[in-house]
Amino acid sequence: METLFDLRNISYSYVGKIDALKDISLKVGRGEQVSILGSNGSGKSTLLAILDGLIYPTSGEFYAFDNQITEEVFDSIKENDFRTYFRTKVGFVFQNSDVQLFSPTVFDEIAFGPLQLDMTAEDVEARVDDVLEMMDIVKLRDRTPHTLSGGEKKKVCIATVLVNNPDVLLLDEPTAGLDPRTQLWLTELLQELGEAGKTVITATHDLEVIDQISERAIVIGEDHRIKVDGSTLDVLGDMALLLSVNLIHEHMHFHGKAVHEHLHAHKGEHLHQHKT
Ligand SMILES: Nc1ncnc2c1ncn2[C@@H]1O[C@H](COP(=O)(O)OP(=O)(O)OP(=O)(O)O)[C@@H](O)[C@H]1O
Ligand SMILES: [Mg+2]
Repeated sequence: METLFDLRNISYSYVGKIDALKDISLKVGRGEQVSILGSNGSGKSTLLAILDGLIYPTSGEFYAFDNQITEEVFDSIKENDFRTYFRTKVGFVFQNSDVQLFSPTVFDEIAFGPLQLDMTAEDVEARVDDVLEMMDIVKLRDRTPHTLSGGEKKKVCIATVLVNNPDVLLLDEPTAGLDPRTQLWLTELLQELGEAGKTVITATHDLEVIDQISERAIVIGEDHRIKVDGSTLDVLGDMALLLSVNLIHEHMHFHGKAVHEHLHAHKGEHLHQHKT
């Protein structure tokens, strides 16, 4: 399998003192679906920011598409073919939609990426309309992004990435704040993207979806180090591991390999189908 991302002993600390990642080594191959798991503050978003070339390791090396990603290459003002290539191949859906949205209308927001490409206005419009349809947000077309609800914003952010048809999708807590139908829809979409050969890397707390959207799970501990990099089903089956990294608590129940949180208001009745 062709290696897309290669992280070698990467550590990252903010402002030189707040540790976010420690000694992270991993490779991601083309077409893999990977979940990044860890409790609040463990370093998931930081890891995705490194993978997207938004920040650079404090120590260690990061290679993407066989090129080392460094500040010199990525932050220089000069036109840079590799950076342009990287930006068209990799799409990032941020944890916080507000940092991603800046256009006066949803249409403009989604058209922004395609307009950077060599496309006619009609082609851009057709492509944006396709994505609006696919995301079921046609009625938001002329709305102002910052006035949308949280879930609507999330859908628009996903649309701004999908419209560029990237090979690699980085998603930071994509299901957070979505209603159940939209969560299910998004889970299925991520599965389909995986089946279509996309590389999909998803940071999440949502243990319910990870076996559907990934075969591999990387667990980051509260010490900011990789605790386990293995099969998603093995990770879901390892209660001691999940407890130790604060991804479950004692009141959660296990049934075989699946994790269920009993909702006391429902007298223990499950709100979803069992996964085995
Ligand atoms: N801009 C920043 N400046 C300083 N410290 C930061 C910054 N962003 C994150 N941190 C710190 O780095 C550590 C890792 O944060 P990160 O956002 O990567 O965690 P996370 O796993 O994504 O958490 P969550 O599940 O809450 O989203 C935390 O201790 C956090 O406080
Ligand atoms: Mg985060």
